[in-house]
Amino acid sequence: MVVTLKDVAREAGVSISTACRALNNSFGIHDDTRRRIANIAARLSYRTNQVARGLVTGQSHSIGLVISDIRNPFFAEVARGAEDAAFHAGRDLVLCNSDLDPEKQMRYLEWLVAKRIDGIVMNSVAPLAPAQQDQLWAAGVPIVLLNLSLAQRRSPIRHFSAAIADNLAGGEIAGNYLIDLGHVNVIHITGPRTHGNFADRAIGFLKAFRHRGLPKPRVVYGEHTFGAAYQAGRQHVAADRSITAIFAGNDVVAFGCMRALMEKGIRIPEDVSIIGFDNVEMSQITSPPLTTIDQPKYETGKAAVEMLLSMTAKGCVHEPEHRIIGVRLIERQSCQKISGSAVPDRETAKVPAQGGSSPSGPVENGSAKKELRKRSGNGRGRVQP
Ligand code: RIB
Repeated sequence: MVVTLKDVAREAGVSISTACRALNNSFGIHDDTRRRIANIAARLSYRTNQVARGLVTGQSHSIGLVISDIRNPFFAEVARGAEDAAFHAGRDLVLCNSDLDPEKQMRYLEWLVAKRIDGIVMNSVAPLAPAQQDQLWAAGVPIVLLNLSLAQRRSPIRHFSAAIADNLAGGEIAGNYLIDLGHVNVIHITGPRTHGNFADRAIGFLKAFRHRGLPKPRVVYGEHTFGAAYQAGRQHVAADRSITAIFAGNDVVAFGCMRALMEKGIRIPEDVSIIGFDNVEMSQITSPPLTTIDQPKYETGKAAVEMLLSMTAKGCVHEPEHRIIGVRLIERQSCQKISGSAVPDRETAKVPAQGGSSPSGPVENGSAKKELRKRSGNGRGRVQP
């Protein structure tokens, strides 16, 4: 039988409210009374009903993590960082998978708010309509986004904080890397344009080509799943043998493209080079191991939860904070230099040595008050396969 607060109060000969205040260490309870009630609660094996407690305190001591696709290994590492930070702070972490479905995402958000969740970390599958943002804002639940375009000033996200990779720089590093290898006929196969991270990666990538005076590469937006990338690889690369390199919007997209090329007997990197984004663990064991842009996934999840916790500690009034996390190139074996190709070098094109994208200046984002930038070295790192 479940022991309730009423049982503890009856046994102690006090009111339910006194028993509650004693067990919550509230003011106005004599130490002897507090100790006596705590002993009775322990003897009866009373366990706090967190739901009931949430109704009284307005806090559930839980944090929601809304991810867009549980199949993407990127989220396993983000969730691990988020969970570690939540556990450390004595909070439960509730995982919701929107499955790339905006309606499902909204259902989860409403459900989390109704459960009086303390805050939400979210990789939004689609931009929230202003009315949806206002609804969430009015509910007073702090939100930290894992995807947000810093380049698009029309970004509809007005209220929310974000912990995001430096996607603009990452896209530019990938672009300059391929150009340095002599690739000019390049395609960018990526996720939806409405997904802030993918939008910024494309902007950074195109910027690299523009700055070197090269033609604008083709960008194919689509779903960032293995299956969709496989189809895109078949349709756009396997069918066009003039393409010499692919910048994939993330590693899962790279894996899908690699399968499409393999099936058609197109060799990587001899025939086509490919670079990904994320540096998920599995990118080390593809054949060949994938060159990619690393974003610190664990750190991002951890930072997002820590930001939420500091926001909840301050109460509902907080300024949105955009924390930008540095990225770097991980060179493996999926890219190869094209012999005899003459591309303008960075000196001639006056391009900064490293990715050098716009975020190294102030981030143009209306309400962001704080920007944390952790760049690692010169943005390049060589990892042995
Ligand atoms: O939506 C998922 C993608 O966005 C991940 O693969 C990662 O790149 C993130 O930024």
